[in-house]
Amino acid sequence: ILADDNITYYGQPVAVVLAKTFQEAQYASDLVKIEIDHLDDPILTLDDAYSKNSFHDDPIILEKGSVAKEMNNSKFKKSGEFEIGGQDHFYLETHVAITFPGENDEYIVWSSTQHPTEVQHGVSKVLNIPSAKIDSKVRRLGGGFGGKESQATIFAGISALCAFITQQPVKIRLNRHNDMTASGKRHNFKVYFTAGFSSNAKINALDITLLSNGGNVLDLSGPVMTRALTHLDNCYFIKSIKAYGYICKTNTVSNTAFRGFGGPQGMLVIENILFSISQFLNKSLDHVRQVNYYSKSNGLITPYGQIVSKPRIEWILDETYKLSDYKKRLKQIETFNSTQQKNQLPFRKGLALMPAKFGISFNKPSFNQAGALIHVYSDGSIRLNHGGTEMGQGLFIKVAQVVAECFKVSLDQIHITSTNTAEVPNTSATAASSGSDLNGMAAWNAASTIKKRMIEHASQLFKKPKSEIIFEQGRILSGNKSLSFTELAFSCWENRISLSSTGFYKTPKIHWNQGKLKGRPYFYFTWGAAVSEALIDINTGENRILRADIIQDCGNSLNENIDIGQIEGGFVQGLGWLTCEELYFSQDGKLLTTGPSTYKLPGSRDVPPIFNVKLLENADNDEKTIFRSKAVGEPPLLLAISHFLALKEAIKAASKSSKPEFLNSPATPSEILKAIYA
Ligand code: MTE
Ligand code: MOS
Repeated sequence: ILADDNITYYGQPVAVVLAKTFQEAQYASDLVKIEIDHLDDPILTLDDAYSKNSFHDDPIILEKGSVAKEMNNSKFKKSGEFEIGGQDHFYLETHVAITFPGENDEYIVWSSTQHPTEVQHGVSKVLNIPSAKIDSKVRRLGGGFGGKESQATIFAGISALCAFITQQPVKIRLNRHNDMTASGKRHNFKVYFTAGFSSNAKINALDITLLSNGGNVLDLSGPVMTRALTHLDNCYFIKSIKAYGYICKTNTVSNTAFRGFGGPQGMLVIENILFSISQFLNKSLDHVRQVNYYSKSNGLITPYGQIVSKPRIEWILDETYKLSDYKKRLKQIETFNSTQQKNQLPFRKGLALMPAKFGISFNKPSFNQAGALIHVYSDGSIRLNHGGTEMGQGLFIKVAQVVAECFKVSLDQIHITSTNTAEVPNTSATAASSGSDLNGMAAWNAASTIKKRMIEHASQLFKKPKSEIIFEQGRILSGNKSLSFTELAFSCWENRISLSSTGFYKTPKIHWNQGKLKGRPYFYFTWGAAVSEALIDINTGENRILRADIIQDCGNSLNENIDIGQIEGGFVQGLGWLTCEELYFSQDGKLLTTGPSTYKLPGSRDVPPIFNVKLLENADNDEKTIFRSKAVGEPPLLLAISHFLALKEAIKAASKSSKPEFLNSPATPSEILKAIYA
């Protein structure tokens, strides 16, 4: 948790200063002088790492069919390369943790983590004290976005170590500069590809090299790369593919999970490739997609072997075209662009669609488990605890709704407690968008166990068969007899019936061979599509998103307002990643953008002025998830790729010689100018 002999990135923490106040600690830490011997030149770029074979591990390989043969048989080939930038999480609350020492080596650690169990394990290792003595607690996070999935453990570990040494409570809170310097970000990628395809744009072969920036240590880079590789297909059937994912070992901070977890990078790769093919063949991007979508005639099996049983592509597209008035606006934009060109005016517009398929479940089957603990008290109040953490995504309300629905009581009868490893052990991170799938089901199982006992008791009280006991609007009824939920709870207690239960859930049907990258990693897919309209100024490269229309598949939504909030927020966060958030490093590897003054975040003005978001209707999950809902946390972020593609369309319309394929992400004004004039 602190650099020991070697410093492997610029800004790596080497010492901790303890003081009575935050300001004193801050001031004193500025006085620390470190003498460092220069051992090696740092490796800072992905190409540098690649040429020096600086990797964390062997490449992760996705392979299907014979690429060599299919490439040979293809009428056309197109190669290219591009970069995909990283992204700072910029959660409003920076990393923070406080540890309280107790008796018998007990420690209570409160931290801002998405993964209380990992904090528990980390602290246990740092202090060499068994997990049973460490209670890791989380009330809520002021945002996580993946940045607090693994890395919160480092800072919780520091606070625990200091509490251990001093036997006093110790709190650590990073200022923004330190947080941005010393915590991992979304992996930046460099991509090399060759695609083989027919004159009608049917893809026969893809040969792809993905370089991701793992940073100085491995962290979650393996799983992130795996998700990138298993999202390269997006909505398209690919006959043969060979994709090598290299995790580069560099001298930057170790990169980590970020909303989408490599999925958005993988999907941007295939969309960029499709765009290049569309340009090469002078066909529309929509045409290229149409030819390649998963379908009965094209094929329904992913490169990693999972079957896309019932794709919702056509359904989603129909709805999205309707919502966005797509075809009419395509024409309008064509007219707009030619008028601008004719009159030598600087504006160009682009309109583009992004269809999306996103796999739900952790790629590692063992992570797909959850627990809950519910107590009903004799006054009828209900205490709910589960393994998930609340970070603004609305999980706690969703899970409370599940319990309220089970007992048929009002939501305010449920008391939602903080997450902690003492009540629900061995939890997974709240991540992979699966928080409500997993914890919702675990809570349902716990509540159902209690309800069954209450039904048995009510059946004796009412002298009615169990099948005739009905829970309804806070009451328990049978024939003309009825009790309030509270009365029945009290009666259960009087009759010595347990009103407490754990609940457990594990996702069914999933299996995965990480060595071969084959199996069924995802319980189901979520679907979505967005249409974005981009405006650029070809003299300055400035750009705007003018309108976005989104249809997202949330199954039978647990809470439509929360889901719409997640879609809007995720989409705008994706816009930031693809257009303005630029991590800028000095020649010697120092991150220079360590605050909002230099790191440009999307602001309220960057929200599309016309922003239509709708959930797919009557869209029950085909799989048995909680109330047939679907996960929503991450997938909407990558719908922002529609805007990136719309920018490419606008660049294409800028002049005959412009090269939209040169557009790297983030598409800052300078990148846009390069793509127009390079
Ligand atoms: N929404 C808010 N407001 N804050 C967050 O930190 N994290 C995102 C997403 N939505 C996040 C958020 C990420 S990265 C994930 S994986 C999911 O929420 C996690 O929560 P869920 O599984 O309950 O959807
Ligand atoms: Mo989300 S990146 O899975 O925490």
